[in-house]
Amino acid sequence: MKILLVAAEAYPFAKRGGLGDVIGSLPLALKDKGIDVRVVIPKYSDIPSSYRSKMEKLRNFNVKIGWRNQYCGIEKLQHKKVDFYFIDNEYYFYRNNLYGYYDEAERFAFFNRAVLDMLPIIDFKPDVIHCHDWHTGMISVLLESQYREKEFYKNIKTLYTIHNLKYQGVFSREILGDLLGLDESHFVEKKLKFYDAVSFMKGGIIYSDAINTVSKTYAREIQTQYFGEQLHGLLKEKRNDLHGILNGIDGDEYNPRTDPYIIKYNARMIKTKLINKTKLQKKFALEVNPSVPLIALVSRLVPQKGIDLIMAVLDDIMNLGVQFIVLGTGEIKYEKFFRAAELRHEGRLSSNIMFSDELAHKIYASSDLFLMPSLFEPCGLGQMIALRYGSLPIVRETGGLKDTVMSYNEYTGEGNGFTFTKYNAHDMLFTIRRAARFYDNKKIWNRIVQNAMRSDNNWGISAEKYINLYNSLL
Ligand code: GLC
Repeated sequence: MKILLVAAEAYPFAKRGGLGDVIGSLPLALKDKGIDVRVVIPKYSDIPSSYRSKMEKLRNFNVKIGWRNQYCGIEKLQHKKVDFYFIDNEYYFYRNNLYGYYDEAERFAFFNRAVLDMLPIIDFKPDVIHCHDWHTGMISVLLESQYREKEFYKNIKTLYTIHNLKYQGVFSREILGDLLGLDESHFVEKKLKFYDAVSFMKGGIIYSDAINTVSKTYAREIQTQYFGEQLHGLLKEKRNDLHGILNGIDGDEYNPRTDPYIIKYNARMIKTKLINKTKLQKKFALEVNPSVPLIALVSRLVPQKGIDLIMAVLDDIMNLGVQFIVLGTGEIKYEKFFRAAELRHEGRLSSNIMFSDELAHKIYASSDLFLMPSLFEPCGLGQMIALRYGSLPIVRETGGLKDTVMSYNEYTGEGNGFTFTKYNAHDMLFTIRRAARFYDNKKIWNRIVQNAMRSDNNWGISAEKYINLYNSLL
């Protein structure tokens, strides 16, 4: 079976969030199961030069974007046995950031058409083109409306994965003719019209042969008004083609037994985890004391992640006698808040307003609790990584958080973390207090940590599910 994954990010080349992690790790798991899987992303200037210098230039041709004819180069690099292709156009992709430009519609319209045009040129005919998030939403649209008659494209199927429904790629209706070469008949509710504009996300949902999202619970949630971002009606209609497949995490990248950034440990060496903790406390000027519960927040600092709940009750949390460490960047108001909180809680709270992979690994290994009270969470990777390192997640029961974290049940001894349901700061506070209370009972605590570290969030089962889904399309 031949599969082409298309996305705007792929670790280790370019990554801004969980999407990049998934596009970096899913193909490795598929390859292991014997699939001929290849990946294509834009060739950003952001890609480290160590990779760029190794890329092989395959071909170049022109891509039509409305009345423009734009240069398109195809470069290739094999990474961990998977072929990655890179779409090269310096005008569109040699910029300081991956996203956030005035001509986003044009950049990704170009990318979408370039992907379709490149296939016969590199002589790769996938059985399924597997597209991810809004940046690839027009691929199935173009395929259906402009490529289908050509023999080469006749039997290619499409799968569209929604990683986050909030970001939809909505642009003015002029892009139809101007960038996509589509006539006005596409500007109707049943096609690309979204209010007075045109939506990439809607295109992907309507025109693809199947759609899925990254957890069962999120697949259900987005059929409701609260989570549906104004597409819930359509998603509800499509519910029979809408699957939920949980993401996995890369077991080599995140493994406390082999992690080069930490003092290595496993489920039976909780004491070693405590050495990581005291080292981190020293490094971040927190009081060095292994018996104070250390709560971690490793997250983009944006409303989705439930930062408002933390803002509402942070001082109450600190009054429980815990320590708190923050790592992440995002909206200025949140960054400012945590910087100020560090001054108020000297020696007990450490704010690190930055992104660092190495520090993230150290925090997973050192913390006792991992806070993730998201407003919504399609899948969430942080809680799965935390589980693997024995840092017990405290999460709100939404999306993938609900599907991966089971609240500790003191009667049965089951559970791998702590959960609450309502988006309410005091419910969260209550849950943190409950967790902190168990922390004092080492026997119970160690049991929950064992449960957590044994949770299986590898790609294995989910990769199988993707393969079944691909098969069902053929
Ligand atoms: C997005 C979602 C996150 C998910 C990730 C990968 O970043 O917000 O919940 O884990 O995509 O699918």
